[in-house]
Amino acid sequence: MLNQLPSKLPDVGSTIFTEMSALALKCKAINLGQGFPNYPPPEPLIQAVNAAMRQGHNQYAPMAGLPQLREVIASKVLGQHGQDYSTETEITVTSGATEALMSSFLALTHPGDEVLLIDPAYDLYSPALRLAGATPVRVPMCPPKEDDPSFRIDWNRIESAITTRTRMLVLNFPHNPSGLTLKPEDLDALETLVSKRPLLLLSDEVYEHIVFDGKKHLSPVARPTLAERTVLISSFGKTFHATGWKIGYCCAPAQIMTEIRKIHQFTVFSVSTPMQAGIARYLREPNIVSELSDFYQRKRDRLIAGLKNTVLRPLTSEGTFFLLVDTQALGAGLEKELALSLTRELGVVSIPVSAFYADPDSPASNHQLLRLCFAKRDATLDQALERLQGVKNC
Ligand SMILES: Cc1ncc(COP(=O)(O)O)c(C=O)c1O
Repeated sequence: MLNQLPSKLPDVGSTIFTEMSALALKCKAINLGQGFPNYPPPEPLIQAVNAAMRQGHNQYAPMAGLPQLREVIASKVLGQHGQDYSTETEITVTSGATEALMSSFLALTHPGDEVLLIDPAYDLYSPALRLAGATPVRVPMCPPKEDDPSFRIDWNRIESAITTRTRMLVLNFPHNPSGLTLKPEDLDALETLVSKRPLLLLSDEVYEHIVFDGKKHLSPVARPTLAERTVLISSFGKTFHATGWKIGYCCAPAQIMTEIRKIHQFTVFSVSTPMQAGIARYLREPNIVSELSDFYQRKRDRLIAGLKNTVLRPLTSEGTFFLLVDTQALGAGLEKELALSLTRELGVVSIPVSAFYADPDSPASNHQLLRLCFAKRDATLDQALERLQGVKNC
């Protein structure tokens, strides 16, 4: 009957995360692939949401979010970055970072606009931009080297990719998958870049509270010249071990936020009321987010220590709950093939970094790197490490 159903995204199937998680179930493998914790959100938060339901916070919330949640977001962001957003006009609570991203792309880009993505890039950006009618332009980072085990942003390359059609640059730091964070010199480079052209910045900061080794998360909104053109996006899913709750937020100058809200209003309208009330209450407790980095640093270090007994070489992870491992000792080949054989033969799921590039099968996208997620109970990490000791040199 429907022999003609033209697809808007004909080349898009299910994501690598779904594929690997399904394989994990089938092979009874330990899932260090998809980025979700296997421990619960904090008990006081669950109680706060529960109490909110019982206290009657069960009907539609205001379109932009509950005022009390927007207030705690405003004071959190002010404390972090010194940027003062108006709760009335510049903050919107969204259905996860995903919705904030989609609403921003739909609101701020137009057919013919080019949007720069820094590869490796989170898999949502490109299809979401194409749905908005924009053209994603992918600019690779410098891949890790023997003497520098980290991806590096190549600002010259980003500058060269800018044309008269470039509308926006998408940033994602702390970076998924590499764990790279922004440094003051990156913000300097960004300031120079935007001083020459009317570029919008979209800064996906869902891992903002997971930064290691005593460092502080740096956001472009810490600099007024960048903040005036930036959409800051974050998610409570990563911060509260509650990825299934799908609550996030975005902050932007009023003129930009007005446009984002037009999309938010007709796609989602408003976000789960008891969750918002519970999170608002919980976020008022002291030290809620400041303990998160230490919690994850211990897990990162546990994984790194255990990997010493394997042929997999860990790269630097400055933030997020991901660690990249270099698999060169296993010989050449597509990262995806390696991830599949580790799942089938050893029972440990990872994500090939090539999945974060436009063409995962191209040699330019394959640097023999796999991403491991350490947002797992210590016992799960230890069990995975035991299995990974079975990885043999080629
Ligand atoms: C970089 C990045 N952005 C956005 C998201 C989506 O966040 P949410 O689950 O809040 O929609 C993720 C989730 O993994 C992510 O890694």
